[in-house]
Amino acid sequence: MTTHPDDSFSPPVGEWYPPSPDMLNSALIKNYEQVYHESLTDVEAFWAKQAEKLDWFEPWTQVVDRSNVPFYRWYVGAKTNIAYNALDRHVKTWRKNKLALIFEGEPGDKQTYSYHKLYREVNKFANVLKSMGVKKGDRVTVYMGRIPELIMAMLACAKIGAVHSVVYGGFSEHALADRIEDAQSRVVITCDGAWLRGNIVKLKDIVDEAVRRSPIVESVIVVKRTGHEINMEQGRDYWYHDLMALPIASPICESVQMDAEDPLFILYTSGTTGKPKGILHTHGGYQVYTSTTLSWVFDLKDEDRYWCAADPGWITGHSYIVYAPLIVGATEIVYEGAPNYPYPNRWWKLVEEYSVSVLYTAPTAIRGLMRFGDAWPNRHDLSSLRLLGSVGEPINPEAWRWFYKVIGKERCPIMDTWWQTETGGFMITPLPSVPLKPGSATRPFPGIEVDVVDDKGEVCPPGTDGNLVVKGPWPGMARTIYGDPDRFVSQYWSQYKEQGWYLTGDSARRDEDGYVWVIGRNDDVIKVSGYRLGTAEVESGLVSHASVAEAAAIGVPDEVRGNVIYAYVILRAGQQPSEDLRDALKEHIRHEIGPIAVPSKIEFVTTLPKTRSGKIMRRVLRARALGQPEGDLSTLEE
Ligand code: WTA
Repeated sequence: MTTHPDDSFSPPVGEWYPPSPDMLNSALIKNYEQVYHESLTDVEAFWAKQAEKLDWFEPWTQVVDRSNVPFYRWYVGAKTNIAYNALDRHVKTWRKNKLALIFEGEPGDKQTYSYHKLYREVNKFANVLKSMGVKKGDRVTVYMGRIPELIMAMLACAKIGAVHSVVYGGFSEHALADRIEDAQSRVVITCDGAWLRGNIVKLKDIVDEAVRRSPIVESVIVVKRTGHEINMEQGRDYWYHDLMALPIASPICESVQMDAEDPLFILYTSGTTGKPKGILHTHGGYQVYTSTTLSWVFDLKDEDRYWCAADPGWITGHSYIVYAPLIVGATEIVYEGAPNYPYPNRWWKLVEEYSVSVLYTAPTAIRGLMRFGDAWPNRHDLSSLRLLGSVGEPINPEAWRWFYKVIGKERCPIMDTWWQTETGGFMITPLPSVPLKPGSATRPFPGIEVDVVDDKGEVCPPGTDGNLVVKGPWPGMARTIYGDPDRFVSQYWSQYKEQGWYLTGDSARRDEDGYVWVIGRNDDVIKVSGYRLGTAEVESGLVSHASVAEAAAIGVPDEVRGNVIYAYVILRAGQQPSEDLRDALKEHIRHEIGPIAVPSKIEFVTTLPKTRSGKIMRRVLRARALGQPEGDLSTLEE
């Protein structure tokens, strides 16, 4: 096992932040230890009890079917629809008139949606999709900016049983085309553009290019957001507002009765090979898992105003912007643009103006805003905040303390939530009643058993790094990799096949108090600004350039972005290294994958350190880049 070199922080011994008496008093779950213990004595009863809080068209006959490990099935036989739980059931109650979404665009435009209004808009769009021939089980690719229509598109798909595949708006045409192909989507939903730092990201142009590469696409639905001139292809491209004005766009649409195990979405994420994996989640277990975790960890009450500042194009947004907050009937804020536009107080202004009480973000954003100094947040009244959250990578104690002191005014506990695209929801996380240690995600969520083990499965003693594993299934777990069940088994379930444990790909250690400290990935996945990228993706992107013979990419620690990418490139015979070529390669990656994958440094080399079997020794490259000892080189090829 290798450990990530990025463990530059060590647990600050003895730094404890116990919950305030007020927090203990108001928290939904007041006694973590007891609830945790009870949840594990009868895990199935625990998950059945949580599921009973939602609406089901037909009940389950079995909580979990373990007959075909690791293809667990949850709430077997039950009929449900996550959109029903997110919308339909609320409009039958007083929540009909409650605000569901408060949207602010980057230019400052505002929109609000009550549950009733959101329900009607989703129904209308669901009817539009139906009229375009989208059926239960069909895959629909969604490629949009952070606007309400993105959320509505996802819910409309769920409502009619279509499977959405949302591709983050920062991906390029090539990455988008690959994902359209893999999912075999005939319909793409997009917008003309998205606002970012005062500029327009021309999403429709990227879709045009991607569709040229994947001719399977028959229809493209375009939301008008920025209003700039775009190409609309007759017979293929339709304006969203035109479709929504047609008589077929009726505001009444039944939620299709789905089997609990029917697919809800595919979300592509990076792994150890160049080809992104389509992680598949289902209606039943996912709705139970995301809503339970959200309401317990962020302690959401009807009077809260919740803001998850992630992008719906990633799992954090799927689970904790689109589905869980609506299932629990929350009021949430969605903001389109950059945190520092036009000034570094934009977020704090939003918190003040909308009286945000729960703010969930990522360490990279915290570090980025911290750089601008305390004066920006101090200009604003942040007294509405009562809970803060962090996700995406380990939060260094310095950023934790700044978030805690300057933003939370030492009043708001920080929920450092560890989880993955594959886990569907929070796995290791504090509840508001758990004492905190800066930099530790603390303890597993009730119903979840995790451990830190060595390569053979022996438990690592406290203070020793090992592989983070999850013991036993949970309702929010990924069901498979779309179209590649073998890869699902080999990637996650083969190393500890005998024990039946899930391999997370992270290394971690436990301390004497049983707190978990996640160190980082111990495979070839890099977290850049909290975004997940595979070294292999960057490498195959580089090698697809005509001048490149071979490439290696590594993650190197960075103060703000967590990690940045360094790439090492061997040129083809006859090619000369130059500044122009370096720029061309960066531009190439921007096109092949997207701006987030562009290496911050490209070095031209003539050899790469490899094992005798030809595997690139990234560990050696990393050590060299960091000026550290190169370690055991006995397997290095001559
Ligand atoms: C990392 C994001 C430390 C981890 C929800 C994991 C974290 C990967 C934390 C999954 C955290 C996420 N502390 N590390 N609180 N949260 N990670 O699939 O390495 O984009 O394996 O899901 O992010 O990234 P993904």
